Amino acid sequence: MKQYYIFTYGCQMNESDSERLAHQLELAGYEGTDNFEEADLIILNTCCVRETAEHKIYGRIGELKHLKAKNKDLIIAITGCMAQKNQADMFKRAPHIDIVLGTHNLRHINEMVAEVQRTHKHQINIEMDNTVLHELEAKPTGTFSAWVPIMNGCNKFCTYCIVPHVRGREISRPIEAIVEDVKKLGATGHKEITLLGQNVNSYGLDFKDGTHFGDLIDALDGIPGIERIRYMTSHPQDMNKDMIDALGRSSNVVTQLHLPIQSGSNRILQKMNRRYTVEHYKELIDYCREKIKGLTLTTDLIVGFPGETEEDFQATLQLLKDIRYDMAYTFIFSKRSGTPAATMADQVPEEVKRVRLQALMDVQNEISLELNKAMEGETYEIIVEGPSRNDENVWFGRTSGNKMILFPKDESLSIGQTVKARVDKAQTWILYGTIV
Ligand code: SAM
Ligand code: SF4
Ligand code: F3S
Repeated sequence: MKQYYIFTYGCQMNESDSERLAHQLELAGYEGTDNFEEADLIILNTCCVRETAEHKIYGRIGELKHLKAKNKDLIIAITGCMAQKNQADMFKRAPHIDIVLGTHNLRHINEMVAEVQRTHKHQINIEMDNTVLHELEAKPTGTFSAWVPIMNGCNKFCTYCIVPHVRGREISRPIEAIVEDVKKLGATGHKEITLLGQNVNSYGLDFKDGTHFGDLIDALDGIPGIERIRYMTSHPQDMNKDMIDALGRSSNVVTQLHLPIQSGSNRILQKMNRRYTVEHYKELIDYCREKIKGLTLTTDLIVGFPGETEEDFQATLQLLKDIRYDMAYTFIFSKRSGTPAATMADQVPEEVKRVRLQALMDVQNEISLELNKAMEGETYEIIVEGPSRNDENVWFGRTSGNKMILFPKDESLSIGQTVKARVDKAQTWILYGTIV
């Protein structure tokens, strides 16, 4: 039997796409291997959101050259966002790859592989059709959790971001199709699902019949077997009280909200084409905290956007102190060719960006630690995920708010079991506890 291996980079959307690629390949008789050096087909499902992501992937592509030299029948395919962005240039930079497959064409993987086998020539398909969303079945890889895409694409065009260019326009999946998927997952032992979209709050807007994200949340309430519904990513522009009410009243939506703000300066938000203000954002958070008890709040922030002054940056630091996020994902602005911000005047020097990133992380780490410390002595429901990365005798689980609690391995527990854990000791990113 021929074997495949998929390297997945980037966001959860790509994780989910890789599961769809895997299903397609298995239909064609391939089986997965854990060792890429033994594979007959290697797929790199790629990301290009920042330059660092592209560097890392080109590095890996370079490393695969020696495998190709050893096995001339090995097929290497580049799929996803970087394939969509760099197109045929990928062959120029790395002639040893065989296939470049764009984000709208994953369903063609098997035909492309067959063409390479027949012709031994480069194959490329980067066509985009923004009018249809092709349903593709997945091979779920999680034991108790699963991804559920609810839409594709992004219409926001934030001036720094490549995603709308490589993923195309927003198209939502019908509520019935999503409910059907979730029912199946519930019936096959999956107790946690994560709804995926670049902006879940724009869900259904393309139906133009008043359907919104809150309707989907209501429709998913109470599906047998499903204990937790996660969702990402939320967007402050489209999120509204109706949706927050639905999140608050659902019996299984989690207490975590990831709501990227990107900057604490209204001037920079405007330049980013993020069409909300810090004041509006704070009102949303107040309402979320009122409706979703025990809310855990996380965000994304970019430092060093073109024209960001010391005053703008101080506004971001102040925002962190005002909002007190549980965690923030902080990024240094990265120029993406083809986006407006890449050529804006007043690019911030690299050294300044690095200093700002560190200052931001210092403030945030202190807040994260304080909030985690407040959890000491409290008991939380967690779903057991298994051994921690560094020690197989230490297991971990996550709370509804997505906080990780580590505890000593206990033979009587199994992966996917829902148990209660008391937090004994808090650190900045993790908690140590005891099963009670
Ligand atoms: N759709 C989501 C949103 O609007 O927040 C997230 C999309 S993106 C995959 C994840 C994060 O990457 C963004 O929230 C942003 O902070 C960051 N990002 C996107 N483009 C970037 C760039 N050019 N440089 C640095 N960070 C970037
Ligand atoms: Fe990128 Fe903005 Fe779309 Fe998020 S909303 S994917 S940051 S363009
Ligand atoms: Fe990267 Fe594409 Fe996701 S650019 S972050 S993999 S949508």
